Amino acid sequence: MVKHLTSMEELNAAEILSLVKRALSLKNGETYNVGKTLYASNLFFENSTRTKVSFEVAEREIGLQVVPFETSTSSVQKGESLYDTCKTLEKIGINVLVIRHFQNEYYRSLSQLNIPVINGGDGSGQHPSQCLLDLMSIYEHFGKIEGLKILIAGDIRNSRVAKSNAVALKKLGAHVVFAAPEVWQDTQLGEYVSIDEVIQDIDVCMLLRVQHERHDQADTQSFSKETYHCQYGLTVERYNRLKENSIVMHPAPVNRDVEIADCLVEAEKSIIFEQMKNGMYMRQAILEWILKENNIV
Ligand code: CP
Repeated sequence: MVKHLTSMEELNAAEILSLVKRALSLKNGETYNVGKTLYASNLFFENSTRTKVSFEVAEREIGLQVVPFETSTSSVQKGESLYDTCKTLEKIGINVLVIRHFQNEYYRSLSQLNIPVINGGDGSGQHPSQCLLDLMSIYEHFGKIEGLKILIAGDIRNSRVAKSNAVALKKLGAHVVFAAPEVWQDTQLGEYVSIDEVIQDIDVCMLLRVQHERHDQADTQSFSKETYHCQYGLTVERYNRLKENSIVMHPAPVNRDVEIADCLVEAEKSIIFEQMKNGMYMRQAILEWILKENNIV
């Protein structure tokens, strides 16, 4: 049975912490190399900057040969299914696939493949590598995750980052609350609060992008950019109420002056760009782990 990484539901707390610590070791100078000729391919059916580029750099860092795959010039454009595309790459000799796809749980159609799949984000479903780099960034700052108070604020309903982080943070013993306009809530995830009631008590303020591309007319009519920022965004006034040792996170891309005031994106408590740096090390750790789990190295 091939081991994939498609959802944070699949990992237990020990496996998550092991990946976090391994990524931090790699950041602190340890190295890993697959030591033989192995191929990786990154199939992105939705746009990406961070996930695609950092997976590619991570693959090269650990000695994988990266085989380019552009969805826009592939036979997907002739109607080939995702399964047939991936089976083809498996038979040609690719050893690991990273896939981002607009369809929730696209990976269910790939469970019979004999090649590991790392989910680079599925619709509004899950984004495990983003979640793991977020956990790495929190652990790097606090030296723990258990007991931390974490606010996740934004377009929760459409956010795969919110769903992966909600699952994983609870597994690791963090106290997670959410803030979102009612139309963007997913009430199955947990308790919703007013950002102004909790801002002075939280350790982590995790902001999520307003996902305009997934909105219908009702969503866009609900909020102007300014109204959203005033009611749910990190304003300078809210930033000044944060605890001294708290951190501000955002998976990016950021809508400046919507989720966070433009002047706060690189403020002292913001680790937004450090998250992106950590992503490359976490993706090395994920690739190493999945290749070892599947006895490919
Ligand atoms: N955070 C994130 O997934 O960014 P990209 O869409 O640029 O990969």
